[in-house]
Amino acid sequence: MSLTPVNSLTVATAAIFGSLGLLWLYKKLTSHQRRAGLKDKVVLITGASSGVGEECARVFYRLGCKVILCARRASELERVKKELMALKLAQGIPAHIPHVIPLDLEKLDELPDRAKEALALHGHIDILINNGGMSVRGSVVDTVLSVHQKIMNINHFGSLVLTSAILPSMISRRKGHILAVSSVQGRIAIPFRSAYSASKHAMQAYFDSLRAEVAEHNISVTVLSPSYINTNLSLSALHGDGSIHAKMDSTTANGMSTIYVADKIVDAVAKQQSDVVLGPFTHGAAIYIRALFPNLYFWIMAGRAKKGEKAED
Ligand SMILES: NC(=O)c1ccc[n+]([C@@H]2O[C@H](COP(=O)([O-])OP(=O)(O)OC[C@H]3O[C@@H](n4cnc5c(N)ncnc54)[C@H](OP(=O)(O)O)[C@@H]3O)[C@@H](O)[C@H]2O)c1
Repeated sequence: MSLTPVNSLTVATAAIFGSLGLLWLYKKLTSHQRRAGLKDKVVLITGASSGVGEECARVFYRLGCKVILCARRASELERVKKELMALKLAQGIPAHIPHVIPLDLEKLDELPDRAKEALALHGHIDILINNGGMSVRGSVVDTVLSVHQKIMNINHFGSLVLTSAILPSMISRRKGHILAVSSVQGRIAIPFRSAYSASKHAMQAYFDSLRAEVAEHNISVTVLSPSYINTNLSLSALHGDGSIHAKMDSTTANGMSTIYVADKIVDAVAKQQSDVVLGPFTHGAAIYIRALFPNLYFWIMAGRAKKGEKAED
């Protein structure tokens, strides 16, 4: 019996949707399995007192990980710890008591000792999430050197020192995963964010070099570059003169949810992804425009700068 054109179309459509459905199911199952493999892993998270870091702590804890919460505000870390311990975990998932290690990423001299403290808790660290960070709103002309240095220390050197202190243990165990929360602004620079963009570009370069060097030691490195996320980041951002912005910008308020971003972070660790860009199509496309048509990108950014800092929020 031969198929009519209409029947052939129906069969082809069913085959396509059937295959897509199977692919989706396969992806779901493998993702679930990979996540289940994270059970009992020791995960150190910086910036765990709010936003993305706090949500990451929740997701890793729910998977049965031994989380170590780090940031400056001990009281907020204790709040997060308490909230984690109140969570009801799925059957078979161990509830490991979270640990709190207050640290300041700007105090580079103290970080090796904080890393030692963290390593001593379980004897090793499986996953290091370099997430703590701070932003800036200020023109190049108005941003003083001390603000550039502060942001570079917190976002770049703080993560670098902590990573260097934990790396030897990962190398000797021949396993580990290091993830850096960078930003789309680590791939493209925008006006009035020079200090922040520079610190995130530095982070991207450092972790790209690291990835290549530690591959032979079976250590994975992920750089996650998200677009705007709905967190307190703009509230704590500095102005060029060092004063605090203390304002929820609409770009931040309308950004991705921390639940979505934390889920992608856990996914990136589970799948050992090297480089992840998260956000709307236009932000991802801007990275390609910067690489392929730099003059077009510079022209667009000059137009944006002309509108002024307030216009872009
Ligand atoms: N929100 C966005 O639109 C966006 C977009 C792209 C990338 N990111 C990146 O995402 C990461 C997390 O930020 P978030 O959006 O979740 O903002 P957030 O809610 O303000 O969280 C920032 C975290 O960093 C910690 N932190 C800040 N300065 C620190 C220091 N000197 N030492 C140690 N910890 C410090 C803060 O804790 P303490 O104040 O307690 O120290 C807080 O836990 C940052 O690296 C940020 O650059 C954010």
